[in-house]
Order: sequence, then C-alpha cells, then structure tokens
Amino acid sequence: MKIQLGIKPLSEIKDSVLVLPVFEDDQKDYGIPAVISFLTVSKFGKMFETQSIFSASSKILLIGAGKKEKFDFTAMQNLAGAAVRKLLRKAKSASMVLPSAGNLSESEKTYAAAMGIEIASYDPTKEFKSNHEAYTLTTVELLADRAERGLQEGLKKGQIIAESINNTRRLGDLPANIMSPTYMLNEAKKIAKDNKLKITVLDEKQAKKKGMGAFTGVAQGSDEPSYMIALEYRGDIKTKDKWAFVGKGITFDSGGLSIKPSSSMHEMKYDMCGAAAVMNSIAAIAKLNLKVNVVAIMAVTENLPGGRAQRPGDIVKTYSGKFAEVIDTDAEGRLVLIDAVTYAQRDFKANKIIDLATLTGAIIVSLGDHITGVFGNNSQFSKDFMEVAEKYGERMWELPMYDEFNDMIKSDMADITNLGHGGSHRSAAGSITAAKFIEAGIEEGTDWIHLDIAGTAWDMKPKPFRGSGATGVGIKSLVELLS
Ligand code: BES
Ligand code: ZN
Ligand code: ZN
Repeated sequence: MKIQLGIKPLSEIKDSVLVLPVFEDDQKDYGIPAVISFLTVSKFGKMFETQSIFSASSKILLIGAGKKEKFDFTAMQNLAGAAVRKLLRKAKSASMVLPSAGNLSESEKTYAAAMGIEIASYDPTKEFKSNHEAYTLTTVELLADRAERGLQEGLKKGQIIAESINNTRRLGDLPANIMSPTYMLNEAKKIAKDNKLKITVLDEKQAKKKGMGAFTGVAQGSDEPSYMIALEYRGDIKTKDKWAFVGKGITFDSGGLSIKPSSSMHEMKYDMCGAAAVMNSIAAIAKLNLKVNVVAIMAVTENLPGGRAQRPGDIVKTYSGKFAEVIDTDAEGRLVLIDAVTYAQRDFKANKIIDLATLTGAIIVSLGDHITGVFGNNSQFSKDFMEVAEKYGERMWELPMYDEFNDMIKSDMADITNLGHGGSHRSAAGSITAAKFIEAGIEEGTDWIHLDIAGTAWDMKPKPFRGSGATGVGIKSLVELLS
C-alpha cells in the first residue's frame, strides 16, 4: 500500500474516500452537512462501527473510535486498519483524518496508523485462490493539520515494522509443504543480504558435531534437512551488551512418535512463528539503525515420526552438557530451544535473551487466545519488557517460576525430562515446566525472558482490522524494547 501524508483542508479531498473517525462521546461532525444530518439522527461511534455516506459529489466513511479517554496506540492502529479493510475492494484511494485524543504524539499516530493500514492489507490467499479478486485500494493518505518532521518518521517506522510483521505472517500462513526448513533458510539468507547481517548456518551434521543433541534428536525424524541459523546485527560497537532473540522454528509439528490427534494437526504449520518473528524483528532493527547488538537464532526443523525418529524414553545430551530424557516427542519445542539458548550464550556471548515459541497448549488453557505468557529469571527485566508490550498493544501476563517447579522436570534416568510431572493433573503447570526446561540452559548472569505465543501467534477468527491467520505477535514489543 502506498501511504503518504496530506497537509490540506478536507474540502480539497475530491476523488478519494474521506475517512472520518467519530468518538462515541464526542461526535465531531467536521462541519460537513451530510455528516451533521447523519449524526443528529443516529447514535454512532462504537469502536470499529462504520457508516458510509456516499453522494454524487463526495464519498465519506465514518468510523467509530470508541471512548475518547480510551484512545491509545492500539486504538489508532486498529482503527486505521478497520477503515482500510472496509475499503480494500471498494475504493482506489482513501484520505484519513487522524483523531485528536489521548496522549499520543502526532508521530506516534502516523506510526500506529501506517502499521494498522499495512497489517489490514495483507492477504495470504492471493497465491492460492484461482479466482482471487485483487484489492482496488492502492493509496492511503494520512491527513495532518501541519507538516512536522516527526510525522514522516512515524509513518516510515510503521511501514518498516509492519513489513516485518507481514512477512512473519506470510511465512506462518504458508503450508508446511512449501515453508520447509530450507525455505526458512533461504528467507534468512535473503534477510541477511537485504540488511547486511552476518549469517551463520549449522546443518544437522554440524549441529550434531557441536553437541546439540536435543536439537538433532528432534530433527532426525524428518528427511528434510534441518538448520540452526544465526543472524547478527551490530549497531553499537561501544558496548559489549549483546541481545539474543531466539525462536522456535518447527515448520511442522506432527508430535513425532507421540503423534498428535489429527483434528487440528494442520494448524501445526504455525509452529515456526517464533523463528519467523525473531528473524523479522532483527530485520526491522537493522532497517531502523538501532544502536544495539543483537543476534537472532532460529532452531529450524520439522517434528515428524520418520523411520529414524527419536523414541519416547530416548536420552539426549544437550549442548549445555545436561542430559535430557525425552518422555514425549511432542514436547519438542523445549528440546530445540535449550540448545538454541546455549548457542546464543556460548557462541555469541549474549547476556540478554528473549525466546519466542509456540510452546504449549497449556498456555491457551491458562490465558486464552489473546495473551502471551511471560516467564523469566529477572523480574525487573520482565516488568520493563511488559511495560513496552502493553504500550504497543501486545497483551502479556507473567507466570511464576518458583524453585518448587524445578522438581517437576527432574528425571529418574537423566538430569531433566521434557515432560513435567509430579502435579495432581497430568498437565499441571504445563507451560511453566516447559519454561523451566529452557531455563535449564540459561547460565549464571544471563537475563532471560521466554514468551509462550501458542495462543497468540495465529488467530483463525478475522477481526475488523486484520484477516485470519498468523498475527506476527512479538515483533512490535521486541523492536520497541530496543528502540
Ligand atoms: N507446538 C505445540 C504446542 C501448541 C499446541 C501450540 C497447540 C499451539 C497450539 C508443542 O510442541 C506441543 O505439542 N506441546 C505439548 C507439550 C506436552 C506434550 C507436554 C502440548 O502442549 O500438548
Ligand atoms: Zn509438539
Ligand atoms: Zn511444537
């Protein structure tokens, strides 16, 4: 979508659809007769409510903006998205007024709006529906009162981050017969080239030689080659601080020999959303020239029950040196991640790690589909991160990591087991024991946050501001944390 700034009075909007936000509790009529007459007879303004007022001489789309005091970054983003989604096949261009409310700066408004517009215009069916109807909307103009430098910067930032979000969504939505580990590797190579990032790739043989027995144990069940991929961005040569974003990249999770029921197995093509998000976050960070050092690590493989697949009961040696007993081959995410976090610390000297993973069904039981689970070893770090996430509209909730939970991953045969036990229910504290397993690979002095995005990485229910499918969750928070 072409998004541009327009500094002009409303009376000059002629050919494009004029989008006017209206608050529930402040029904601004913009001095336009058709809007005045509509608002005098109708109660209007609930969030995402729309009303078109088309006449021979003008085309207006009113969009509800909700309560004025609740208007924030997310509201701006989603309002812009909802308006655009209404017009995708109904107009060629739109001119949108940015509401004046809340404590958002003008540049935050263009940032949010640009992001909302791009997210609304992503369509995963384009490649696969033979009778696909293309969008007619090609240009959106954001109307501002006066030219300010920050406006253009905000717009640009929104587009950069949205590009990362939409690319993550595209990778997530692609079926696993296309989005294989090799496809992911090629995508990483492309991102490295476009953003001048250093790329390091370990194939299965090299990973095995290095000692990543947990990662290769999962990988051995599939005939597709698997990769441990690292992308490095160095934006600050003055500090030794090094961030790592680590992503679970299971391009398809059948469960392995502990095979999943088939009813919703197809959704396990989304099990690589963490890896896609970290890879695209580092791309946005590079494009924004942030002054930080980051490595993104993606543990990429399928989890299939092939003839050489690992068996329940197998014991693998993790890259950390700890031995892990694999009781359930479907708890593969923690296995690939424990090696990936050790890789981040040992080979890239990362001292702050955030991992993203569609890790457990249990997090959906705890928090539902709209909230990401947060786990960590430094409560101040988690708190700071969650504040950023909250501001930019990614809902998160922290779960406890008390020492008592350590007993639940102790193995009779080895150091740790990948299936939590000891609770009165078979999946007691399932998301916490999964996080504890990853924590077993975190060394003294490393600050670490784990995000369980199993409930939030994709959403099959379309929203007014976003179609169904992958969401690109996490990217806004990661990029803003380092901004
Ligand atoms: N990828 C799944 C988790 C998942 C489930 C994500 C549903 C999104 C929706 C993960 O690898 C898995 O299978 N976890 C198991 C762990 C269990 C065997 C301890 C689970 O959650 O059932
Ligand atoms: Zn699994
Ligand atoms: Zn999985």
